[in-house]
Amino acid sequence: MMMRAEDIRKTFLEFFEANGHVIVPSAPLLPRDDPTLLFINAGMNQFKDIFLGKIDVPYPRAASVQKCIRVSGKHNDLEEVGKDTYHHTFFEMLGNWSFGDYFKEGAIEMAWELITKHYRLPEDRLWITIYKDDDEAGVIWNKKIGVPKERILRFGEKDNFWEMGEVGPCGPCTEIHYDFGEEAGCDKVDCRPNCTCGRFVEIWNLVFIQYNRDETGKLTELPMKSVDTGMGFERLVAILQGKKSNYETDIFMPLIRKIEEITLKSFEDNENKVAFRVLSDHVRALAFAIADGVLPSNEGRGYVLRRILRRGARFSRKLGYHDPILYKLTGTLVDTMGDTYPELLNKAEHVSMVIQSEEERFGETLDTGLELFEQLVEKARKEDSQVIWGEDAFKLYDTYGFPVDLTQLMADENGLVVDMKGFNHCLDEQRTRSRTASQFEVKHEMGKDQKWKIISEGGNSDFVGYERNSIDTKLRKYYEDDDRVFLVLEKTPFYAESGGQVGDTGEIHNKYFKMAVRDTKKTGEEIVHIGELLEGRIGGDTVSAVVDEGRRLAIARNHTSTHLLQYALRKVLGDHVQQSGSHVGPDRLRFDYTHFQQPDKEELVEVERLVNEAILQNHPVAKCEENYSEAVKSGALAFFGEKYGSKVRVVNIEGVSRELCGGTHLDYTGQIGSFIIYSESSVAAGVRRIEAYTGFNALDYLQKFKDDYSQLVNILKTKPDEIRNRVLAILEENKSLEREIESLQAQIAGNEVDDIIKDSEMVEDSHIVVAEIPVDSRDKLLAFGDAIKEKLTSGVAVLGAKLTDNSVGLVAVVTQDIVEKRGIKANDLIKKVSEKVDGSGGGRDTFAQAGGSKVENLNEALEYAKKHLVHEMVK
Ligand code: ALA
Repeated sequence: MMMRAEDIRKTFLEFFEANGHVIVPSAPLLPRDDPTLLFINAGMNQFKDIFLGKIDVPYPRAASVQKCIRVSGKHNDLEEVGKDTYHHTFFEMLGNWSFGDYFKEGAIEMAWELITKHYRLPEDRLWITIYKDDDEAGVIWNKKIGVPKERILRFGEKDNFWEMGEVGPCGPCTEIHYDFGEEAGCDKVDCRPNCTCGRFVEIWNLVFIQYNRDETGKLTELPMKSVDTGMGFERLVAILQGKKSNYETDIFMPLIRKIEEITLKSFEDNENKVAFRVLSDHVRALAFAIADGVLPSNEGRGYVLRRILRRGARFSRKLGYHDPILYKLTGTLVDTMGDTYPELLNKAEHVSMVIQSEEERFGETLDTGLELFEQLVEKARKEDSQVIWGEDAFKLYDTYGFPVDLTQLMADENGLVVDMKGFNHCLDEQRTRSRTASQFEVKHEMGKDQKWKIISEGGNSDFVGYERNSIDTKLRKYYEDDDRVFLVLEKTPFYAESGGQVGDTGEIHNKYFKMAVRDTKKTGEEIVHIGELLEGRIGGDTVSAVVDEGRRLAIARNHTSTHLLQYALRKVLGDHVQQSGSHVGPDRLRFDYTHFQQPDKEELVEVERLVNEAILQNHPVAKCEENYSEAVKSGALAFFGEKYGSKVRVVNIEGVSRELCGGTHLDYTGQIGSFIIYSESSVAAGVRRIEAYTGFNALDYLQKFKDDYSQLVNILKTKPDEIRNRVLAILEENKSLEREIESLQAQIAGNEVDDIIKDSEMVEDSHIVVAEIPVDSRDKLLAFGDAIKEKLTSGVAVLGAKLTDNSVGLVAVVTQDIVEKRGIKANDLIKKVSEKVDGSGGGRDTFAQAGGSKVENLNEALEYAKKHLVHEMVK
């Protein structure tokens, strides 16, 4: 019977557990606090610090099934995905580790036993590669295991020396390859493992971790020898299920069938294969990454997701499908993998909504962009050129949202190349244009090119602020820049800005100087106090460092409150709620979290109530150090910024909240006093924001509210509980007054018009109306003109008004008979008159209007109109 994917995972873990390994859960795809890595790309990532000897070995042997994404940095497979049958953006890696325990022999023996005895792969299909100088591994394979010499091949650094990234633990490796047989291969005589034809597939990589590579590229020997292995799960499943392609296994087939159902296209059809593979692959990377807290955006990890999604959207067009499709696959994915990865199940709705909204967004410009691209291809063909010019690629990027690697891929399919130099030039220009703001930041980055003055030697920046607010300590170094001072101490109670919490302020002094600390920041491991000298000059080597206690307490109120808020939001809105950012200051707190709809009024009221309830219950806020894996296993919420494998600080509010957090907190929730939400808004698709006050800030806010309210009650001469009805009544009254005013105004205007016409000069039977009208807006003047036009039986009118914007308005009216008999036209007339006020205008024969700027000439203009008109009329 065919082994199902889930049995294959289980067999792997059971085998290593029986061999004394601790089974460790997959780490989230989002690396904690490892700036060298965008996504987890190997099972060993979470053990990096153990290999490097930075933390104690928690267990000598471990094994896991790890979620991985390889789309950036040293390991980037994105471009390959879809073209072949075995590259993926997201995949699972089966791995086992020894931390200073067994080495080459143990690793090789166990690997061989598992794949030949348990997975029952035929020995004669297996080939071995080893690092060129690794005789030891060669001997083990040949003598101990019995693999014939001719199936053990030696390769160099590229194939048999594994590194996690540009820096980090690394070492020589030995790989096990599977041979699909001669019929699957190419004609080359030396077709053998590492040939690209597909006959041989690498299934398992056993790395003998011995070195660390640093930033300069130098290798240093590690104190302990370790083993790090990784087996490509999807490939193994394909082999064990007798399939030639990973996509034909039970991991992918449900997705493939779903795509067929949606697009009505067949996977068996060769021209559709690439698109099917891309879609079924990409939805996995997107769903797993989003479930682990990444959101599509314009930078970093978020942009990687955006690129994957856009590449997918484009391939769905290849299947003739133009609507969002990836989000429709997430249900199937959750059905096949939700049991193994509960985070996917818990976040199913969130994942689908994020993908859908992102697909809809790109869908709006994708089709137009594709048309433009077709034109570019056409143009290149006509001009007999092989190039998509940088400017055009930039337009696709900037206006239509095409990531440049997508444009490159499409160019490649058409036998063209993208002029990357030109593209980068356009990109640089755009960046320069928008850099003004960020330049400020760069300039203020601390310590970059500064010369520190060293005062004393030894370790520095030992943070003692969890226990105390002040300390006498050694001054290690400082520098001065214009009027600012930067200073580093041996020990410090000052908390440096991190995890959303602002840096502490306070004072550092001794008998030589007094410095006001305005901010505290971290550069690397160093805590830098930033501020200005209030007295004296920096001197001496010991100082007193004193944190502003009141401010620190206000910050702690807000920090502890964010934990309570996260608890309340999860309780009211659901467990998909996850922190996606925060700001914790002395004055307020801001908390961003994943959720799709706007929470309704009742939900917000309930959230606020729950937080205040937890405050009133006055829970102790315990802080303790725990092992990362234990803390997470026991349900502590983790956000970015925590280190794996190492000791982490857990802030525990018994029965309410358990979070990994390095911030400074209260001792009891009751110290918060009270918590008031003052703003709820949306930050991005799927992310909402709550802003709130606590403690005295909440009190100030409520007192001001109360004060405003009682002023209103006084002004409105009512009682507090009648204010609502009073305001509604006033608004109603207002409306009816407005209506009354309008009708009176119309009446008055009508009367005025009558008077003006009556008082006007007559030439024969026609009126000549020239008047300044006391209105202040153009609309009112025009209304007046209309009224004159209605009432004037025969004649000409020129009306002017001084408007509120300090300009002149003019209107001319000529009745039809005058136009015909005398040839006087309103539009000619208004042009001449408006010249006098430096203006211009126009209109029809019978009605025209103009504006002008010289208010002081209005009289003159009207005088001129009168003379001119009379003149014309009597002519
Ligand atoms: N860390 C090694 C790899 O990813 C095992 O191939």
